[in-house]
Amino acid sequence: MPSDNMKPATIHLIAAARPNFMKVAPLYHALAAEDWAEPLIVHTGQHYDANMSDAFFADLGMPKPHLHLGVGSGSHAEQTAKVMVAYEKILMESPPAWTVVVGDVNSTMACTLAAKKLNLNVAHLEAGLRSRDRTMPEEINRLVTDVIADLLWTPSPDADANLRAEGVPEAHIVRVGNIMIDSYELMRPRIETARTYETFGLTPGTYGVMTLHRPSNVDHADVLTMLVDRLIAAAARVPLVFAVHPRTRKSLEKFGLMDRFAAAPGIHLTEPLGYIQFMGLVRQAKMVITDSGGIQEETTYLGIPCLTLRTTTERPITIDQGTNELVPPADVGAAIGRVLAGDWPTGRKPDLWDGHTASRIVADLKGRV
Ligand code: UD1
Repeated sequence: MPSDNMKPATIHLIAAARPNFMKVAPLYHALAAEDWAEPLIVHTGQHYDANMSDAFFADLGMPKPHLHLGVGSGSHAEQTAKVMVAYEKILMESPPAWTVVVGDVNSTMACTLAAKKLNLNVAHLEAGLRSRDRTMPEEINRLVTDVIADLLWTPSPDADANLRAEGVPEAHIVRVGNIMIDSYELMRPRIETARTYETFGLTPGTYGVMTLHRPSNVDHADVLTMLVDRLIAAAARVPLVFAVHPRTRKSLEKFGLMDRFAAAPGIHLTEPLGYIQFMGLVRQAKMVITDSGGIQEETTYLGIPCLTLRTTTERPITIDQGTNELVPPADVGAAIGRVLAGDWPTGRKPDLWDGHTASRIVADLKGRV
């Protein structure tokens, strides 16, 4: 209990894009229950569509952001720069005791740079992940963030090893586990009663769920056309629900693929779904086909086969211990056939993916304010 003259420590939680919200939510709830901490959600505005942002705040029981930077979309430099300028103003007016950044989006790096240039404390949650593919914007964001952040909260031993190999002092690395699993456990009762499959006229265990949004898969006409052809063919064997990211929708329309894809038998296209609806759909799926980062982890936790349409992953533990495999996009049909034939790893849950990561973070942070 802080004494009367001690004000709670202000902690900024940076929330920017869809995959950030489920990482911030459990930490917000855990910090809000502490009398020594005053967590403030800072939304940079990187994702702004209702179904990419507000729906997640509602599903995850978060208040409206305390501070909103409203930066929106743009080129990488534009988006990064706009976040830095807007966040620096806030930091100069009222510097927090800590800024907590999560994941690997442009806003993660931008807020870290703004705070460290003002010599303020930054903690990175989900630190140490590396794909070793520097053509991915997220890999640049991870490297820059981790090299200057003061405190690196990691999800897995591979992340610790990556940081050590880059010369990060041992005292800065704290393994806390996987915060995404906290969100799942917090919302489990509602996820388990969500019958999202009914919306699509499907039955549990008989369908696949898809998400695609990486520039490498969706920004080039030849790659996206090939993927659409392969997926239409696969949908004759297993129905596929595809929650279409705004970036992917734009590409499907631009390359003239949308009408054919939407009309194909077995293909169910939908807008991006909220967290509870989406996790409800995933937990009952036969398989998941994705190029997301976080979904590789959620499927490992749930024991659902995950086909990751990428050549690298920053989450190798989902392959070594879990249900994930990297699948070259051209081979997606064969990989779907393997899952249907029962030829896929069953996997296990990695250590510290247990729903208690937020409380480990709170205990660690309390000793540092
Ligand atoms: C961003 C992250 C990526 C993360 C993904 C999850 C970076 C570099 N990328 O990619 O790591 O996996 O979020 O979704 O930070 N758009 C909308 N409405 C929105 C947001 C975006 O229409 O609410 C459109 C805009 O045209 C925008 C495009 O989607 O230009 C891409 O958005 P952006 O935030 O730049 O990257 P994502 O592809 O979403």
